[in-house]
Amino acid sequence: MAMIERKHLEYLLDVEERHFHQDHPKSYELYQRARKSLQGGVPMLWMIRWAGTFPIFVKGGKGAHFVDVDGIEYIDFCLGDTGAMTGHAPDKTIQAVINQIKKGITYMLPTEDVIWVGEELQKRFGLPYWQFTLTATDANRFAIRMAREITQRKYVLVYNYCYHGTVDEAFITINPDGPGPRRGNLGPPVNPVETTKVIEFNDIGALKRALSDGDVACVLAEPVMTNIGIIHPDPGYHDALRNITNETGTILIIDETHTICSGPGGYTGKFALKPDMLTLGKPLAGGVPAAIYGYSSEIAERFHARLNLEDSDVGGIGGTLAGNALSIAAMRATLEHVLTESAYEKAIDLSIRFAHGVESIIEEFDLPWIVRRLGCRSEYWFRKTSPRNGGEAFAAIDSELDRYMHLFSLNRGILMTPFHNMALIAPDATETDVDYHTKVFRDAVVSLIGK
Ligand SMILES: Cc1ncc(COP(=O)(O)O)c(C=O)c1O
Repeated sequence: MAMIERKHLEYLLDVEERHFHQDHPKSYELYQRARKSLQGGVPMLWMIRWAGTFPIFVKGGKGAHFVDVDGIEYIDFCLGDTGAMTGHAPDKTIQAVINQIKKGITYMLPTEDVIWVGEELQKRFGLPYWQFTLTATDANRFAIRMAREITQRKYVLVYNYCYHGTVDEAFITINPDGPGPRRGNLGPPVNPVETTKVIEFNDIGALKRALSDGDVACVLAEPVMTNIGIIHPDPGYHDALRNITNETGTILIIDETHTICSGPGGYTGKFALKPDMLTLGKPLAGGVPAAIYGYSSEIAERFHARLNLEDSDVGGIGGTLAGNALSIAAMRATLEHVLTESAYEKAIDLSIRFAHGVESIIEEFDLPWIVRRLGCRSEYWFRKTSPRNGGEAFAAIDSELDRYMHLFSLNRGILMTPFHNMALIAPDATETDVDYHTKVFRDAVVSLIGK
Protein backbone atom coordinates (compact mmCIF):
# COMPACT_ATOMS: atom_id res chain seq x y z
CA MET A 1 0.00 0.00 0.00
CA ALA A 2 1.26 3.48 -0.97
CA MET A 3 2.81 5.59 1.81
CA ILE A 4 3.10 9.36 2.05
CA GLU A 5 6.30 10.80 3.50
CA ARG A 6 5.46 13.73 5.80
CA LYS A 7 8.71 15.60 5.09
CA HIS A 8 8.04 15.33 1.38
CA LEU A 9 4.49 16.62 1.94
CA GLU A 10 5.88 19.63 3.81
CA TYR A 11 8.21 20.38 0.92
CA LEU A 12 5.39 20.02 -1.64
CA LEU A 13 3.17 22.36 0.36
CA ASP A 14 5.89 24.97 0.29
CA VAL A 15 6.27 24.63 -3.49
CA GLU A 16 2.50 25.00 -4.01
CA GLU A 17 2.32 27.99 -1.68
CA ARG A 18 4.95 29.83 -3.75
CA HIS A 19 3.14 28.89 -6.93
CA PHE A 20 -0.06 30.31 -5.41
CA HIS A 21 1.63 33.61 -4.49
CA GLN A 22 3.15 33.98 -7.94
CA ASP A 23 -0.16 33.43 -9.73
CA HIS A 24 -2.24 35.84 -7.64
CA PRO A 25 -0.52 39.23 -7.41
CA LYS A 26 -3.76 41.20 -7.78
CA SER A 27 -5.61 39.15 -5.13
CA TYR A 28 -2.63 39.61 -2.82
CA GLU A 29 -2.67 43.37 -3.36
CA LEU A 30 -6.41 43.55 -2.64
CA TYR A 31 -5.97 41.36 0.42
CA GLN A 32 -3.30 43.70 1.81
CA ARG A 33 -5.63 46.66 1.29
CA ALA A 34 -8.63 44.78 2.73
CA ARG A 35 -6.72 43.99 5.91
CA LYS A 36 -6.75 47.69 6.78
CA SER A 37 -10.54 47.82 7.07
CA LEU A 38 -11.67 44.19 7.54
CA GLN A 39 -10.51 41.85 10.26
CA GLY A 40 -8.33 39.26 8.57
CA GLY A 41 -8.86 41.02 5.21
CA VAL A 42 -12.22 39.30 4.66
CA PRO A 43 -15.87 40.19 5.28
CA MET A 44 -16.56 36.91 7.10
CA LEU A 45 -14.18 35.00 9.32
CA TRP A 46 -14.19 31.69 7.40
CA MET A 47 -13.04 33.28 4.17
CA ILE A 48 -9.50 32.96 5.50
CA ARG A 49 -9.95 29.16 5.80
CA TRP A 50 -8.82 28.49 2.23
CA ALA A 51 -5.73 26.50 1.39
CA GLY A 52 -3.70 29.55 0.22
CA THR A 53 -2.41 32.03 2.79
CA PHE A 54 -4.77 34.70 1.45
CA PRO A 55 -8.16 34.50 -0.27
CA ILE A 56 -8.53 34.88 -4.03
CA PHE A 57 -10.83 37.77 -4.91
CA VAL A 58 -13.56 36.96 -7.40
CA LYS A 59 -14.29 39.05 -10.48
CA GLY A 60 -17.38 37.17 -11.64
CA GLY A 61 -18.86 33.79 -12.39
CA LYS A 62 -21.46 31.95 -14.41
CA GLY A 63 -22.69 28.40 -14.02
CA ALA A 64 -19.98 26.06 -12.77
CA HIS A 65 -17.11 28.50 -13.38
CA PHE A 66 -15.76 31.79 -12.09
CA VAL A 67 -12.82 34.09 -12.79
CA ASP A 68 -10.62 35.79 -10.21
CA VAL A 69 -9.16 39.30 -10.33
CA ASP A 70 -5.89 37.90 -11.73
CA GLY A 71 -7.82 36.60 -14.74
CA ILE A 72 -7.59 32.90 -13.76
CA GLU A 73 -10.64 30.76 -14.52
CA TYR A 74 -11.76 28.07 -12.07
CA ILE A 75 -14.07 25.08 -12.13
CA ASP A 76 -16.10 25.67 -9.00
CA PHE A 77 -16.68 22.51 -6.95
CA CYS A 78 -17.29 24.56 -3.80
CA LEU A 79 -20.23 26.57 -5.08
CA GLY A 80 -20.31 28.84 -2.05
CA ASP A 81 -20.49 25.72 0.16
CA THR A 82 -23.91 24.90 -1.36
CA GLY A 83 -25.22 28.50 -1.53
CA ALA A 84 -24.56 28.43 -5.29
CA MET A 85 -25.40 24.75 -5.87
CA THR A 86 -27.58 25.87 -8.78
CA GLY A 87 -24.46 27.21 -10.53
CA HIS A 88 -23.64 30.92 -10.41
CA ALA A 89 -26.09 33.52 -11.62
CA PRO A 90 -28.85 31.25 -12.99
CA ASP A 91 -30.66 33.16 -15.77
CA LYS A 92 -34.22 32.58 -14.57
CA THR A 93 -33.41 33.62 -11.01
CA ILE A 94 -31.66 36.76 -12.25
CA GLN A 95 -34.65 37.69 -14.37
CA ALA A 96 -37.01 37.27 -11.43
CA VAL A 97 -34.69 39.31 -9.20
CA ILE A 98 -34.53 42.15 -11.73
CA ASN A 99 -38.31 42.16 -12.16
CA GLN A 100 -38.94 42.21 -8.41
CA ILE A 101 -36.24 44.73 -7.57
CA LYS A 102 -37.95 47.34 -9.76
CA LYS A 103 -41.19 46.86 -7.79
CA GLY A 104 -39.74 46.89 -4.29
CA ILE A 105 -37.56 44.62 -2.23
CA THR A 106 -39.14 44.33 1.18
CA TYR A 107 -42.52 45.41 2.56
CA MET A 108 -43.06 43.21 5.61
CA LEU A 109 -46.17 42.12 3.77
CA PRO A 110 -46.65 38.97 1.70
CA THR A 111 -46.57 38.91 -2.10
CA GLU A 112 -48.54 36.42 -4.17
CA ASP A 113 -45.40 34.47 -5.16
CA VAL A 114 -45.10 33.14 -1.64
CA ILE A 115 -48.25 31.02 -2.01
CA TRP A 116 -46.79 29.31 -5.08
CA VAL A 117 -43.62 28.64 -3.07
CA GLY A 118 -45.54 27.24 -0.08
CA GLU A 119 -47.52 24.90 -2.35
CA GLU A 120 -44.34 23.77 -4.11
CA LEU A 121 -42.64 23.06 -0.77
CA GLN A 122 -45.64 20.94 0.27
CA LYS A 123 -45.16 18.82 -2.85
CA ARG A 124 -41.41 18.47 -2.48
CA PHE A 125 -41.15 17.73 1.23
CA GLY A 126 -44.58 16.44 2.23
CA LEU A 127 -45.13 18.92 5.09
CA PRO A 128 -48.16 21.24 5.01
CA TYR A 129 -47.01 24.47 6.73
CA TRP A 130 -44.06 26.74 5.91
CA GLN A 131 -42.30 29.81 7.26
CA PHE A 132 -39.36 31.77 5.88
CA THR A 133 -36.06 33.14 7.17
CA LEU A 134 -32.90 34.44 5.52
CA THR A 135 -30.48 31.74 6.68
CA ALA A 136 -30.61 28.07 7.52
CA THR A 137 -29.17 28.97 10.92
CA ASP A 138 -32.27 31.02 11.67
CA ALA A 139 -34.53 28.28 10.33
CA ASN A 140 -32.93 25.87 12.81
CA ARG A 141 -33.05 28.35 15.67
CA PHE A 142 -36.75 29.01 15.11
CA ALA A 143 -37.58 25.33 14.70
CA ILE A 144 -35.83 24.61 18.02
CA ARG A 145 -37.73 27.44 19.73
CA MET A 146 -41.02 26.08 18.43
CA ALA A 147 -40.13 22.57 19.61
CA ARG A 148 -39.21 23.81 23.09
CA GLU A 149 -42.32 25.95 23.33
CA ILE A 150 -44.64 23.14 22.30
CA THR A 151 -43.10 20.41 24.42
CA GLN A 152 -42.03 22.61 27.34
CA ARG A 153 -38.86 20.50 27.44
CA LYS A 154 -35.36 21.79 27.89
CA TYR A 155 -32.94 19.73 25.82
CA VAL A 156 -32.03 19.46 22.17
CA LEU A 157 -30.33 16.29 20.90
CA VAL A 158 -27.65 16.47 18.20
CA TYR A 159 -24.97 14.20 16.75
CA ASN A 160 -21.32 14.37 17.61
CA TYR A 161 -19.53 16.68 15.11
CA CYS A 162 -22.72 17.86 13.50
CA TYR A 163 -23.02 21.35 12.08
CA HIS A 164 -26.31 23.21 11.77
CA GLY A 165 -25.14 26.80 11.39
CA THR A 166 -24.31 29.09 14.28
CA VAL A 167 -26.90 27.49 16.53
CA ASP A 168 -25.55 27.66 20.10
CA GLU A 169 -27.14 24.36 21.12
CA ALA A 170 -25.31 22.41 18.40
CA PHE A 171 -21.72 23.30 19.38
CA ILE A 172 -21.23 20.28 21.58
CA THR A 173 -19.02 17.25 21.06
CA ILE A 174 -18.17 14.07 22.92
CA ASN A 175 -14.77 14.98 24.30
CA PRO A 176 -12.29 12.63 26.04
CA ASP A 177 -13.78 13.67 29.42
CA GLY A 178 -17.40 13.55 28.23
CA PRO A 179 -19.78 15.91 26.40
CA GLY A 180 -18.68 19.55 26.38
CA PRO A 181 -18.16 22.61 24.18
CA ARG A 182 -16.84 21.87 20.72
CA ARG A 183 -13.22 22.89 20.18
CA GLY A 184 -13.11 26.50 18.97
CA ASN A 185 -16.61 27.41 20.19
CA LEU A 186 -16.40 31.20 20.49
CA GLY A 187 -18.07 32.89 23.45
CA PRO A 188 -20.64 30.20 24.27
CA PRO A 189 -23.56 31.68 26.25
CA VAL A 190 -23.54 28.65 28.57
CA ASN A 191 -21.83 25.29 28.60
CA PRO A 192 -23.87 23.43 25.93
CA VAL A 193 -24.32 20.43 28.27
CA GLU A 194 -26.97 22.61 29.94
CA THR A 195 -29.01 22.81 26.75
CA THR A 196 -28.04 19.80 24.69
CA LYS A 197 -27.50 16.05 24.69
CA VAL A 198 -25.05 14.65 22.18
CA ILE A 199 -24.76 11.11 20.82
CA GLU A 200 -22.99 9.43 17.94
CA PHE A 201 -24.81 9.05 14.62
CA ASN A 202 -25.98 5.49 13.83
CA ASP A 203 -26.09 4.48 17.51
CA ILE A 204 -29.67 3.40 18.20
CA GLY A 205 -28.95 2.36 21.80
CA ALA A 206 -27.55 5.81 22.62
CA LEU A 207 -30.57 7.42 20.98
CA LYS A 208 -32.95 5.37 23.13
CA ARG A 209 -31.06 6.21 26.30
CA ALA A 210 -30.85 9.93 25.52
CA LEU A 211 -34.59 10.23 24.88
CA SER A 212 -35.84 7.87 27.57
CA ASP A 213 -36.15 10.55 30.30
CA GLY A 214 -38.67 12.48 28.19
CA ASP A 215 -36.81 15.78 28.62
CA VAL A 216 -35.65 16.31 25.03
CA ALA A 217 -37.74 18.75 23.00
CA CYS A 218 -36.29 17.83 19.62
CA VAL A 219 -33.68 15.91 17.72
CA LEU A 220 -31.96 18.17 15.19
CA ALA A 221 -30.49 15.86 12.57
CA GLU A 222 -29.01 15.88 9.11
CA PRO A 223 -30.43 12.75 7.43
CA VAL A 224 -26.92 11.99 6.16
CA MET A 225 -24.11 13.71 8.02
CA THR A 226 -22.24 16.02 5.66
CA ASN A 227 -20.32 18.49 7.73
CA ILE A 228 -17.62 16.16 9.03
CA GLY A 229 -17.66 14.35 5.69
CA ILE A 230 -20.43 12.29 4.14
CA ILE A 231 -21.66 9.62 6.59
CA HIS A 232 -24.64 7.60 5.43
CA PRO A 233 -27.16 6.18 7.89
CA ASP A 234 -27.05 2.44 8.53
CA PRO A 235 -29.96 0.55 6.99
CA GLY A 236 -32.97 0.95 9.30
CA TYR A 237 -31.50 3.90 11.22
CA HIS A 238 -34.11 6.39 10.02
CA ASP A 239 -36.98 4.05 10.91
CA ALA A 240 -35.54 3.67 14.40
CA LEU A 241 -35.08 7.44 14.72
CA ARG A 242 -38.69 8.05 13.71
CA ASN A 243 -40.07 5.34 16.01
CA ILE A 244 -38.07 6.34 19.07
CA THR A 245 -38.84 10.05 18.68
CA ASN A 246 -42.54 9.21 18.29
CA GLU A 247 -42.54 6.93 21.34
CA THR A 248 -40.89 9.57 23.53
CA GLY A 249 -42.87 12.57 22.24
CA THR A 250 -39.70 14.13 20.84
CA ILE A 251 -40.00 16.38 17.80
CA LEU A 252 -37.87 15.27 14.87
CA ILE A 253 -36.32 18.13 12.90
CA ILE A 254 -34.54 17.14 9.70
CA ASP A 255 -32.04 19.71 8.42
CA GLU A 256 -31.81 19.38 4.62
CA THR A 257 -29.49 22.34 4.05
CA HIS A 258 -26.72 20.19 2.56
CA THR A 259 -28.63 17.00 1.81
CA ILE A 260 -30.75 18.94 -0.69
CA CYS A 261 -27.99 17.70 -3.02
CA SER A 262 -29.87 14.33 -2.98
CA GLY A 263 -32.74 15.48 -5.19
CA PRO A 264 -35.49 18.11 -5.58
CA GLY A 265 -37.12 17.05 -2.29
CA GLY A 266 -33.82 16.45 -0.52
CA TYR A 267 -33.15 13.16 1.27
CA THR A 268 -36.60 13.43 2.86
CA GLY A 269 -38.33 13.48 -0.52
CA LYS A 270 -36.14 10.77 -1.97
CA PHE A 271 -36.49 8.30 0.90
CA ALA A 272 -39.98 9.29 2.10
CA LEU A 273 -38.84 10.32 5.58
CA LYS A 274 -41.57 11.67 7.83
CA PRO A 275 -40.05 14.39 10.03
CA ASP A 276 -42.20 16.65 12.20
CA MET A 277 -40.21 19.66 11.01
CA LEU A 278 -37.77 20.33 8.19
CA THR A 279 -35.26 23.13 7.68
CA LEU A 280 -33.36 24.24 4.60
CA GLY A 281 -31.53 27.30 3.27
CA LYS A 282 -28.51 28.05 1.10
CA PRO A 283 -29.33 27.29 -2.60
CA LEU A 284 -33.10 27.71 -2.41
CA ALA A 285 -33.14 31.11 -4.07
CA GLY A 286 -30.16 30.62 -6.39
CA GLY A 287 -27.79 32.35 -3.94
CA VAL A 288 -30.10 35.15 -2.81
CA PRO A 289 -30.45 34.81 0.99
CA ALA A 290 -33.52 32.70 1.73
CA ALA A 291 -34.35 29.78 3.98
CA ILE A 292 -37.41 27.86 5.13
CA TYR A 293 -38.77 25.71 7.90
CA GLY A 294 -41.82 23.53 7.53
CA TYR A 295 -43.91 21.43 9.90
CA SER A 296 -46.81 19.04 10.27
CA SER A 297 -50.43 20.01 11.02
CA GLU A 298 -50.03 18.68 14.54
CA ILE A 299 -47.06 20.97 15.20
CA ALA A 300 -48.96 23.90 13.66
CA GLU A 301 -51.95 23.29 15.95
CA ARG A 302 -49.89 22.84 19.09
CA PHE A 303 -47.90 25.97 18.29
CA HIS A 304 -51.01 27.99 17.51
CA ALA A 305 -52.48 27.05 20.88
CA ARG A 306 -49.50 28.66 22.65
CA LEU A 307 -49.16 31.71 20.41
CA ASN A 308 -50.19 35.15 21.59
CA LEU A 309 -50.32 37.23 18.41
CA GLU A 310 -50.08 40.48 20.35
CA ASP A 311 -46.53 39.54 21.42
CA SER A 312 -45.47 37.57 18.34
CA ASP A 313 -43.00 40.23 17.15
CA VAL A 314 -41.02 39.91 20.37
CA GLY A 315 -41.40 36.15 20.77
CA GLY A 316 -37.95 35.30 19.43
CA ILE A 317 -39.15 33.84 16.14
CA GLY A 318 -39.04 35.85 12.90
CA GLY A 319 -37.06 38.78 11.48
CA THR A 320 -37.82 42.03 9.66
CA LEU A 321 -36.34 40.94 6.34
CA ALA A 322 -37.48 37.31 6.54
CA GLY A 323 -39.87 36.38 3.72
CA ASN A 324 -39.03 39.60 1.85
CA ALA A 325 -40.43 40.00 -1.65
CA LEU A 326 -37.05 39.73 -3.35
CA SER A 327 -35.95 36.46 -1.80
CA ILE A 328 -39.42 34.99 -2.36
CA ALA A 329 -39.37 35.96 -6.05
CA ALA A 330 -35.89 34.46 -6.38
CA MET A 331 -37.01 31.30 -4.58
CA ARG A 332 -40.02 30.87 -6.82
CA ALA A 333 -37.95 31.21 -10.00
CA THR A 334 -35.25 28.90 -8.65
CA LEU A 335 -37.69 26.17 -7.62
CA GLU A 336 -39.72 26.50 -10.80
CA HIS A 337 -36.92 26.66 -13.36
CA VAL A 338 -33.52 25.90 -11.83
CA LEU A 339 -33.60 23.25 -9.09
CA THR A 340 -35.56 20.93 -11.38
CA GLU A 341 -35.57 17.16 -11.73
CA SER A 342 -33.57 17.36 -14.96
CA ALA A 343 -30.94 19.70 -13.45
CA TYR A 344 -30.47 17.21 -10.60
CA GLU A 345 -30.14 14.30 -13.03
CA LYS A 346 -27.36 16.09 -14.87
CA ALA A 347 -25.49 17.12 -11.73
CA ILE A 348 -25.82 13.66 -10.15
CA ASP A 349 -24.52 11.92 -13.29
CA LEU A 350 -21.50 14.20 -13.20
CA SER A 351 -20.97 13.48 -9.53
CA ILE A 352 -21.03 9.74 -10.22
CA ARG A 353 -18.41 10.34 -12.92
CA PHE A 354 -16.36 12.40 -10.46
CA ALA A 355 -16.47 9.62 -7.85
CA HIS A 356 -15.55 6.93 -10.39
CA GLY A 357 -12.65 9.06 -11.64
CA VAL A 358 -11.20 9.49 -8.15
CA GLU A 359 -11.82 5.82 -7.31
CA SER A 360 -9.93 4.71 -10.42
CA ILE A 361 -6.83 6.64 -9.26
CA ILE A 362 -7.14 5.32 -5.69
CA GLU A 363 -7.18 1.82 -7.15
CA GLU A 364 -4.32 2.46 -9.57
CA PHE A 365 -2.04 3.60 -6.73
CA ASP A 366 -3.43 1.26 -4.10
CA LEU A 367 -4.18 4.13 -1.74
CA PRO A 368 -5.91 3.48 1.61
CA TRP A 369 -8.58 6.03 0.66
CA ILE A 370 -12.27 5.86 -0.28
CA VAL A 371 -14.88 8.01 -1.99
CA ARG A 372 -18.41 8.62 -0.74
CA ARG A 373 -21.22 10.32 -2.62
CA LEU A 374 -24.62 11.78 -1.88
CA GLY A 375 -26.51 13.03 -4.93
CA CYS A 376 -24.37 15.70 -6.60
CA ARG A 377 -21.89 15.82 -3.68
CA SER A 378 -18.81 13.58 -3.62
CA GLU A 379 -15.97 13.38 -1.21
CA TYR A 380 -12.78 11.42 -0.74
CA TRP A 381 -11.54 10.27 2.65
CA PHE A 382 -8.03 9.43 3.77
CA ARG A 383 -9.10 6.13 5.31
CA LYS A 384 -9.96 2.66 4.04
CA THR A 385 -13.53 2.33 5.26
CA SER A 386 -16.51 4.61 5.75
CA PRO A 387 -16.71 6.20 9.17
CA ARG A 388 -20.03 5.37 10.87
CA ASN A 389 -20.16 8.49 13.00
CA GLY A 390 -18.71 11.92 13.69
CA GLY A 391 -16.12 10.70 16.20
CA GLU A 392 -14.60 8.27 13.68
CA ALA A 393 -14.75 10.89 10.95
CA PHE A 394 -13.03 13.51 13.09
CA ALA A 395 -10.23 11.07 13.88
CA ALA A 396 -9.63 10.58 10.13
CA ILE A 397 -8.89 14.26 9.42
CA ASP A 398 -5.44 14.92 7.99
CA SER A 399 -5.29 18.72 7.80
CA GLU A 400 -1.93 18.87 6.02
CA LEU A 401 -2.96 16.45 3.34
CA ASP A 402 -6.31 18.21 2.94
CA ARG A 403 -4.51 21.50 2.50
CA TYR A 404 -2.14 20.04 -0.07
CA MET A 405 -4.90 18.50 -2.20
CA HIS A 406 -6.84 21.77 -2.08
CA LEU A 407 -3.88 23.97 -2.93
CA PHE A 408 -2.67 21.66 -5.69
CA SER A 409 -6.16 21.78 -7.23
CA LEU A 410 -6.54 25.53 -6.75
CA ASN A 411 -3.21 26.16 -8.49
CA ARG A 412 -4.56 24.19 -11.44
CA GLY A 413 -7.90 25.96 -11.66
CA ILE A 414 -10.15 23.82 -9.44
CA LEU A 415 -11.85 25.13 -6.31
CA MET A 416 -12.76 22.43 -3.79
CA THR A 417 -14.85 23.15 -0.67
CA PRO A 418 -12.38 24.32 2.00
CA PHE A 419 -13.83 21.98 4.62
CA HIS A 420 -12.62 18.39 4.04
CA ASN A 421 -12.39 17.06 0.46
CA MET A 422 -15.78 17.71 -0.94
CA ALA A 423 -16.84 18.48 -4.48
CA LEU A 424 -20.32 19.75 -5.13
CA ILE A 425 -21.21 19.66 -8.80
CA ALA A 426 -23.43 22.18 -10.54
CA PRO A 427 -25.67 21.10 -13.44
CA ASP A 428 -23.73 23.42 -15.78
CA ALA A 429 -20.45 21.59 -15.20
CA THR A 430 -19.25 19.37 -18.03
CA GLU A 431 -17.72 15.93 -18.36
CA THR A 432 -14.55 17.72 -19.45
CA ASP A 433 -14.50 19.61 -16.13
CA VAL A 434 -14.90 16.39 -14.19
CA ASP A 435 -12.27 14.51 -16.20
CA TYR A 436 -9.89 17.41 -15.75
CA HIS A 437 -10.32 17.01 -12.00
CA THR A 438 -9.51 13.29 -12.29
CA LYS A 439 -6.30 14.18 -14.13
CA VAL A 440 -5.32 16.84 -11.56
CA PHE A 441 -6.12 14.43 -8.71
CA ARG A 442 -3.86 11.84 -10.34
CA ASP A 443 -1.07 14.40 -10.75
CA ALA A 444 -1.39 15.29 -7.06
CA VAL A 445 -1.12 11.62 -6.10
CA VAL A 446 1.94 11.14 -8.33
CA SER A 447 3.58 14.17 -6.71
CA LEU A 448 2.92 12.65 -3.27
CA ILE A 449 4.06 9.08 -3.78
CA GLY A 450 5.88 8.99 -7.10
CA LYS A 451 4.94 6.72 -10.01
C1 LIG B 1 -26.62 21.23 7.69
C2 LIG B 1 -26.50 22.72 7.81
N1 LIG B 1 -27.48 23.41 8.40
C3 LIG B 1 -27.44 24.74 8.53
C4 LIG B 1 -26.37 25.46 8.06
C5 LIG B 1 -26.32 26.95 8.24
O1 LIG B 1 -26.42 27.64 7.03
P1 LIG B 1 -26.18 29.21 7.05
O2 LIG B 1 -24.73 29.41 7.39
O3 LIG B 1 -26.50 29.63 5.65
O4 LIG B 1 -27.08 29.79 8.06
C6 LIG B 1 -25.30 24.79 7.46
C7 LIG B 1 -24.13 25.53 6.97
O5 LIG B 1 -23.15 24.98 6.50
C8 LIG B 1 -25.38 23.39 7.32
O6 LIG B 1 -24.39 22.69 6.76
